[in-house]
Amino acid sequence: MTAQLIDGNALSRQTREQVSQRVAALKAKGITPGLAVVLVGDNPASQVYVRNKVKACEDTGMHSVLEKYDATMTEADLLARVEALNNDPTIHGILVQLPLPTHMDAQKVIETISPAKDVDGFHVASAGALMVGQPGFWPCTPYGCMKMLESIGYNLRGKHAVVIGRSNIVGKPMALMLLQQNATVTICHSATPDLKAMTLQADVIVAAVGKRNVLTADMVKPGAVVLDVGMNRNDEGKLCGDVDFAGVKEVASYITPVPGGVGPMTITMLMVNTLEAAERLVA
Ligand code: GUN
Repeated sequence: MTAQLIDGNALSRQTREQVSQRVAALKAKGITPGLAVVLVGDNPASQVYVRNKVKACEDTGMHSVLEKYDATMTEADLLARVEALNNDPTIHGILVQLPLPTHMDAQKVIETISPAKDVDGFHVASAGALMVGQPGFWPCTPYGCMKMLESIGYNLRGKHAVVIGRSNIVGKPMALMLLQQNATVTICHSATPDLKAMTLQADVIVAAVGKRNVLTADMVKPGAVVLDVGMNRNDEGKLCGDVDFAGVKEVASYITPVPGGVGPMTITMLMVNTLEAAERLVA
C-alpha cells in the first residue's frame, strides 16, 4: 500500500483563502484583525518562524507588528511590553516566540498575555478551557493536525489514537483534542517501555518528539493514518520529520510529509485564532 499524502500546503492555501474572506468582512465593519509577534534574541529558527507568521498576516489582509528585542532585554521590560500589547486596541493576538533567553521565565511571560489575546493557546486559561471543553484558543499545531484529519473526512469516534510526545505545546493538547472527538487516546513518551507495542495498535499516530525515525514501518498497523509533527535535519542537512517517511508511506493509508505537512498548518491556525480573537469583538 502506498499512502495518500495529506498536503499541508494545499489545505493551508484553502483555509487562508477562507480566512482572507472573513478578514475582509470584518474590515467592512471597521475592525482589522491585528497580531503582535514578539521575538527576543537572535535564534535563527525563530527568526524564520516569525517572518513567516508576519508574512501570513500580510497575505490574509491582517495587521501585524513584529517587535524584536535584544537577548539582553530584562524580563520586567518584556512583561511591560506584553502589558502594553494587552491594552492596545489594534492588537487582537499576541505571540511571544519561544524559546526565550534562559534568564526569563517563559511561563510567567505567557501568563501575562491576556487570555483573550492568547492566540498561541499556551496560557493556563487556554489549556484549562481545552481540558474542560469550553471556548478558548487551541494551540496551533495540534489544531492544525485536527484540521488535517477533518480534511480527509476521518471520523475519530471509537478509533485508537497514539500520540508520541507529551509537550504542553503539542502532545498534551493533541491528546485532549482527539479525546474530544471520541477517540481512545494513548500518550507515549520517553519512559514508555515498548513504544512499538503501542503504535501497532493505533488507527491514528501523531509523532511529536523532535527526533528522526521515531516511527518506522514495522511500528505501524497497515492502513493507519500518520501525522508527523517533527521538524529535524537529516545527515545531508535536509528537513525531515520524526517519521521514516519512505518506509511508513508503504504501510499507512494517509501520511503528512515534512516539509509541506503540519508546518504550514500551524501558521494557518494562528491566522484562524487571530481572526477569531477579532471576530469575538463583534459577536
Ligand atoms: N516556538 C516554536 N513553535 C512555537 C509556537 O508555535 N509558538 C511560539 N510562541 N513559539 C514557538
